[in-house]
Amino acid sequence: MNNLLAPSILSADFMHLEREIRMLASAGADLVHCDVMDGHFVPNLTFGPPVIKQIKSISPLPLDVHLMITNPEAVLDQYIEAGTDWLSFQYEAAIHHQRALTHIRKKGLKAGIVLNPGTAVENIRDLLPDCDYVLLMSVNPGFGGQSYIPQVDKKIRQLAAWRKEMGLQALQIEVDGGISLENINRLKELGVNIFVAGSAIFNTQDPVKTIQEMKKGIQ
Ligand code: DX5
Ligand code: ZN
Repeated sequence: MNNLLAPSILSADFMHLEREIRMLASAGADLVHCDVMDGHFVPNLTFGPPVIKQIKSISPLPLDVHLMITNPEAVLDQYIEAGTDWLSFQYEAAIHHQRALTHIRKKGLKAGIVLNPGTAVENIRDLLPDCDYVLLMSVNPGFGGQSYIPQVDKKIRQLAAWRKEMGLQALQIEVDGGISLENINRLKELGVNIFVAGSAIFNTQDPVKTIQEMKKGIQ
Protein backbone atom coordinates (compact mmCIF):
# COMPACT_ATOMS: atom_id res chain seq x y z
CA MET A 1 0.00 0.00 0.00
CA ASN A 2 1.28 3.47 -0.88
CA ASN A 3 1.74 6.07 1.82
CA LEU A 4 0.02 9.25 0.71
CA LEU A 5 0.30 12.86 1.80
CA ALA A 6 -2.96 14.82 1.50
CA PRO A 7 -2.47 18.53 2.30
CA SER A 8 -5.67 20.22 3.47
CA ILE A 9 -6.41 23.42 1.59
CA LEU A 10 -8.39 24.68 4.61
CA SER A 11 -5.21 26.52 5.60
CA ALA A 12 -4.31 27.62 2.05
CA ASP A 13 -4.54 31.15 0.66
CA PHE A 14 -8.01 31.14 -0.91
CA MET A 15 -7.22 34.26 -2.91
CA HIS A 16 -4.58 32.23 -4.74
CA LEU A 17 -5.99 28.74 -4.60
CA GLU A 18 -4.83 27.66 -8.05
CA ARG A 19 -1.26 28.67 -7.28
CA GLU A 20 -1.44 26.83 -3.93
CA ILE A 21 -2.71 23.62 -5.54
CA ARG A 22 -0.05 23.71 -8.26
CA MET A 23 2.54 24.21 -5.53
CA LEU A 24 1.26 21.08 -3.71
CA ALA A 25 1.58 19.03 -6.88
CA SER A 26 5.05 20.21 -7.77
CA ALA A 27 6.26 19.67 -4.20
CA GLY A 28 5.24 16.00 -4.41
CA ALA A 29 1.94 15.81 -2.49
CA ASP A 30 -0.34 12.94 -3.48
CA LEU A 31 -3.91 14.17 -2.94
CA VAL A 32 -5.65 17.50 -2.34
CA HIS A 33 -7.73 17.23 0.84
CA CYS A 34 -10.87 19.39 0.54
CA ASP A 35 -12.78 20.08 3.77
CA VAL A 36 -16.47 20.68 3.11
CA MET A 37 -18.19 22.28 6.12
CA ASP A 38 -21.85 23.31 6.30
CA GLY A 39 -22.11 25.43 9.46
CA HIS A 40 -24.41 22.77 10.99
CA PHE A 41 -22.47 19.58 11.48
CA VAL A 42 -19.46 21.74 12.36
CA PRO A 43 -19.41 25.39 13.44
CA ASN A 44 -17.62 26.56 10.31
CA LEU A 45 -18.47 27.04 6.67
CA THR A 46 -16.25 26.43 3.65
CA PHE A 47 -17.28 25.49 0.10
CA GLY A 48 -19.45 23.07 -1.85
CA PRO A 49 -19.78 21.32 -5.23
CA PRO A 50 -19.25 24.36 -7.53
CA VAL A 51 -15.88 25.13 -5.94
CA ILE A 52 -14.89 21.44 -5.95
CA LYS A 53 -15.69 21.38 -9.67
CA GLN A 54 -13.46 24.37 -10.33
CA ILE A 55 -10.64 22.94 -8.23
CA LYS A 56 -10.93 19.68 -10.18
CA SER A 57 -10.61 21.56 -13.46
CA ILE A 58 -7.11 22.80 -12.57
CA SER A 59 -5.79 20.20 -10.10
CA PRO A 60 -2.99 17.90 -11.27
CA LEU A 61 -3.74 15.78 -8.16
CA PRO A 62 -6.79 13.65 -7.25
CA LEU A 63 -9.29 15.28 -4.87
CA ASP A 64 -9.86 13.78 -1.43
CA VAL A 65 -13.18 15.31 -0.35
CA HIS A 66 -14.10 15.15 3.35
CA LEU A 67 -17.76 15.99 3.98
CA MET A 68 -18.46 17.52 7.40
CA ILE A 69 -22.14 18.12 6.68
CA THR A 70 -25.49 16.92 7.99
CA ASN A 71 -27.42 14.49 5.79
CA PRO A 72 -24.54 13.78 3.40
CA GLU A 73 -26.53 11.03 1.68
CA ALA A 74 -28.80 13.65 0.07
CA VAL A 75 -25.93 15.35 -1.77
CA LEU A 76 -23.39 12.62 -2.53
CA ASP A 77 -24.16 12.76 -6.25
CA GLN A 78 -23.38 16.48 -6.41
CA TYR A 79 -19.87 15.81 -5.09
CA ILE A 80 -19.45 12.80 -7.34
CA GLU A 81 -20.44 14.83 -10.39
CA ALA A 82 -18.14 17.68 -9.38
CA GLY A 83 -15.17 15.36 -9.98
CA THR A 84 -14.30 14.03 -6.54
CA ASP A 85 -11.88 11.08 -6.58
CA TRP A 86 -11.95 10.04 -2.92
CA LEU A 87 -15.20 10.76 -1.04
CA SER A 88 -15.79 10.39 2.69
CA PHE A 89 -18.65 11.38 4.98
CA GLN A 90 -19.00 11.51 8.74
CA TYR A 91 -20.38 8.37 10.40
CA GLU A 92 -22.29 10.57 12.88
CA ALA A 93 -24.15 12.46 10.14
CA ALA A 94 -25.39 9.53 8.04
CA ILE A 95 -28.03 6.84 8.57
CA HIS A 96 -27.65 4.25 5.81
CA HIS A 97 -23.87 4.02 5.82
CA GLN A 98 -23.56 0.81 3.87
CA ARG A 99 -25.84 2.10 1.12
CA ALA A 100 -23.87 5.34 0.82
CA LEU A 101 -20.49 3.57 0.71
CA THR A 102 -21.70 1.13 -1.92
CA HIS A 103 -23.14 3.96 -3.98
CA ILE A 104 -19.86 5.90 -3.96
CA ARG A 105 -17.91 2.80 -4.97
CA LYS A 106 -20.33 1.94 -7.76
CA LYS A 107 -19.66 5.38 -9.25
CA GLY A 108 -15.98 4.47 -9.43
CA LEU A 109 -14.70 6.61 -6.54
CA LYS A 110 -12.84 5.53 -3.42
CA ALA A 111 -15.31 5.42 -0.54
CA GLY A 112 -14.45 6.38 3.02
CA ILE A 113 -16.16 6.79 6.36
CA VAL A 114 -15.03 9.35 8.94
CA LEU A 115 -15.11 9.01 12.73
CA ASN A 116 -15.05 11.88 15.18
CA PRO A 117 -12.59 11.51 18.07
CA GLY A 118 -15.42 10.42 20.41
CA THR A 119 -16.90 7.79 18.08
CA ALA A 120 -15.70 4.24 18.76
CA VAL A 121 -14.25 2.21 15.89
CA GLU A 122 -16.49 -0.70 16.98
CA ASN A 123 -19.38 1.18 15.31
CA ILE A 124 -17.94 0.60 11.85
CA ARG A 125 -16.43 -2.87 12.13
CA ASP A 126 -19.19 -4.39 10.00
CA LEU A 127 -18.82 -1.64 7.39
CA LEU A 128 -15.12 -2.20 6.76
CA PRO A 129 -15.55 -4.55 3.78
CA ASP A 130 -17.48 -1.73 2.04
CA CYS A 131 -14.84 0.93 2.70
CA ASP A 132 -11.74 1.75 0.69
CA TYR A 133 -10.54 3.84 3.62
CA VAL A 134 -11.40 4.94 7.12
CA LEU A 135 -10.65 8.53 8.09
CA LEU A 136 -9.98 8.96 11.79
CA MET A 137 -10.43 12.52 13.00
CA SER A 138 -7.63 13.28 15.43
CA VAL A 139 -9.14 16.67 16.37
CA ASN A 140 -12.77 17.73 16.68
CA PRO A 141 -13.65 18.75 13.13
CA GLY A 142 -14.28 22.34 12.10
CA PHE A 143 -10.96 24.12 12.32
CA GLY A 144 -7.33 23.74 11.39
CA GLY A 145 -4.47 24.27 13.80
CA GLN A 146 -5.63 22.08 16.70
CA SER A 147 -3.54 19.47 18.55
CA TYR A 148 -3.57 15.72 17.90
CA ILE A 149 -5.78 13.88 20.42
CA PRO A 150 -3.63 11.00 21.78
CA GLN A 151 -6.54 8.56 22.33
CA VAL A 152 -6.68 8.18 18.53
CA ASP A 153 -3.54 5.98 18.66
CA LYS A 154 -5.59 3.14 20.12
CA LYS A 155 -8.18 3.44 17.33
CA ILE A 156 -5.47 3.22 14.66
CA ARG A 157 -4.05 0.09 16.30
CA GLN A 158 -7.49 -1.53 16.47
CA LEU A 159 -8.26 -0.79 12.81
CA ALA A 160 -4.87 -2.11 11.72
CA ALA A 161 -5.51 -5.29 13.71
CA TRP A 162 -8.94 -5.81 12.12
CA ARG A 163 -7.48 -5.15 8.68
CA LYS A 164 -5.23 -8.14 9.24
CA GLU A 165 -7.80 -10.37 10.98
CA MET A 166 -10.52 -9.70 8.42
CA GLY A 167 -8.21 -10.11 5.41
CA LEU A 168 -8.83 -6.54 4.21
CA GLN A 169 -5.28 -5.82 3.05
CA ALA A 170 -6.46 -3.00 0.75
CA LEU A 171 -8.21 -1.05 3.53
CA GLN A 172 -6.48 2.31 3.96
CA ILE A 173 -6.28 4.30 7.19
CA GLU A 174 -6.24 8.10 7.01
CA VAL A 175 -5.72 10.53 9.91
CA ASP A 176 -6.76 14.18 9.93
CA GLY A 177 -5.99 16.84 12.51
CA GLY A 178 -2.82 17.93 14.30
CA ILE A 179 -0.49 16.04 11.95
CA SER A 180 3.01 17.48 11.69
CA LEU A 181 6.63 16.48 11.17
CA GLU A 182 6.69 15.69 14.90
CA ASN A 183 4.20 12.81 14.77
CA ILE A 184 3.89 11.70 11.14
CA ASN A 185 6.51 8.97 11.38
CA ARG A 186 5.08 7.50 14.57
CA LEU A 187 1.59 7.39 13.01
CA LYS A 188 2.98 5.55 10.01
CA GLU A 189 4.43 2.93 12.37
CA LEU A 190 0.97 2.49 13.94
CA GLY A 191 -0.56 1.62 10.57
CA VAL A 192 -1.69 4.91 9.00
CA ASN A 193 -1.01 5.32 5.28
CA ILE A 194 -2.82 8.56 4.36
CA PHE A 195 -1.80 11.72 6.18
CA VAL A 196 -3.79 14.96 6.10
CA ALA A 197 -1.97 18.11 7.15
CA GLY A 198 -3.14 21.69 6.88
CA SER A 199 -1.53 24.24 9.17
CA ALA A 200 1.70 22.24 9.49
CA ILE A 201 2.20 22.77 5.75
CA PHE A 202 0.65 26.13 4.89
CA ASN A 203 1.65 27.98 8.05
CA THR A 204 5.35 27.24 7.67
CA GLN A 205 7.96 29.46 6.03
CA ASP A 206 8.58 26.95 3.30
CA PRO A 207 5.58 24.71 2.51
CA VAL A 208 7.45 22.96 -0.33
CA LYS A 209 10.26 21.91 1.99
CA THR A 210 7.75 20.78 4.63
CA ILE A 211 5.94 18.61 2.08
CA GLN A 212 9.22 17.07 0.96
CA GLU A 213 10.21 16.35 4.56
CA MET A 214 6.81 14.85 5.34
CA LYS A 215 7.03 12.65 2.26
CA LYS A 216 10.43 11.47 3.38
CA GLY A 217 9.02 10.74 6.84
CA ILE A 218 6.29 8.48 5.49
CA GLN A 219 8.38 6.52 2.99
C1 DX5 B 1 -10.56 19.79 10.44
C2 DX5 B 1 -10.29 19.38 9.01
C3 DX5 B 1 -8.86 19.14 8.74
C4 DX5 B 1 -7.98 20.34 9.00
C5 DX5 B 1 -6.67 19.84 9.51
O1 DX5 B 1 -11.92 19.91 10.63
O2 DX5 B 1 -10.99 18.19 8.69
O3 DX5 B 1 -8.63 18.60 7.45
O4 DX5 B 1 -7.78 21.15 7.91
O5 DX5 B 1 -5.91 20.92 9.90
P1 DX5 B 1 -4.57 20.81 10.72
O6 DX5 B 1 -3.65 19.95 9.92
O7 DX5 B 1 -4.15 22.22 10.84
O8 DX5 B 1 -4.92 20.17 12.04
ZN1 ZN C 1 -10.47 17.01 6.73
